[in-house]
Amino acid sequence: MKKLTGPFTQILPLTGLPIKGALKDEQLHIIANGGVLIEDGLILAVDDFEKLRTNYPSAQIEEITGDHVLLPGFVDCHTHLCFAGSRAKDYAMRNAGKSYLEIAVSGGGIWDSVTQTRLATETELSNLLAKRIARHLAEGVTTIEIKSGYGLSVTEELKQLKAIHQAANKTHAHIVPTCLAAHIKPKDFDGVESEYLKYLLNELLPKIKQQDLANRVDVFIEQNAFNTSDALFYLSRAKQMGFEATVHADQFTTGGSEVAVKARAASADHLEASGDYEIKLLANSDTVAVTLPGASLGLGMGYAPARKLLDAGACLAIASDWNPGSAPMGDLLMQASVMAAAEKLSTAEVFAGLTYRAAQALKLNDRGILTKGKLADMQAYPCNDYREILYHQGKLKPARVWTAENND
Ligand code: NIG
Ligand code: FE
Repeated sequence: MKKLTGPFTQILPLTGLPIKGALKDEQLHIIANGGVLIEDGLILAVDDFEKLRTNYPSAQIEEITGDHVLLPGFVDCHTHLCFAGSRAKDYAMRNAGKSYLEIAVSGGGIWDSVTQTRLATETELSNLLAKRIARHLAEGVTTIEIKSGYGLSVTEELKQLKAIHQAANKTHAHIVPTCLAAHIKPKDFDGVESEYLKYLLNELLPKIKQQDLANRVDVFIEQNAFNTSDALFYLSRAKQMGFEATVHADQFTTGGSEVAVKARAASADHLEASGDYEIKLLANSDTVAVTLPGASLGLGMGYAPARKLLDAGACLAIASDWNPGSAPMGDLLMQASVMAAAEKLSTAEVFAGLTYRAAQALKLNDRGILTKGKLADMQAYPCNDYREILYHQGKLKPARVWTAENND
């Protein structure tokens, strides 16, 4: 059964735009009084509503009343939603002047979340996750990448990934799991960093493959986490085993993005410390540069050089990094809107970074634009002009959100 949804005051299908580089708002294709024809969760056509109604008289009509602007659903390509507990203490300590790295060294930071997450059962974790997923979905995020990384042993990482699968089975949002067992070397591991990574390669990744729990791995390259040569070894081996790679890169110090490019990683994320050398390297590669304004806001630090990355020709995605430590807020649209004002990003660049460019970071080419054959993941904002959306700095939320799974 075909369904025709509309009319929408404006539809921004985000079609016909390049995957890389700067974008101007004049390049945005806008369909006034548009409709979307859908069958079995896939888009059949996006066009003038009345024209579609005439051409498909038997289509069931889902009528939209009042002004609405339709966008593709957002793709949040970097989150750490699978955690238990709180790090409010860390946040207060940072605001009182301690640095992220100092807090980590003194027993707070990622290890604190590992301790709290290990105490939760798989079902408790999946229930916590389900609530965060529901909030994200209601805010227009229809695809959510979720990392493990607060388990840091074979059993605990598998528990996290299984909790992610449990939660994925209970939602209409699309969930993409990533193994971030290489977040930090756990304090209870008896050996150096390179030995921990070998333990993951030998003991954990084969089980993840066998149980089909994830096909992506991430590594945090930083002082107090993993160095560039160990990380490159880890990613190359993981890729040989059939995993896609992504990297926490250049958050405080450089080195990570170069590893990401060398490993042909799908994305290099953070990039707050990236300079001209790293920007050029990323722009000349197929690795998506992912900026995480939520971490900059949470840590009170500068943004990644988003403007420079786009001007150099990089593919720039924007993700929330929602996690209990550096980015506890998790409001992707608010974060993107606020960063756009500081970094001088056009609306087209922000929308691209939240949709089809973020899908590219996950190597998903079936979503992120509204056109024939793509998933009917979409969201409608109650306004009459697409510029209202960033103008409200995240306060204007979608009135309706559809994903392919409940859109037919
Ligand atoms: O992306 N930088 C490393 N990992 C996370 C933070 C995780 C945490 O603080 O718990 C990040 O910011
Ligand atoms: Fe992160």
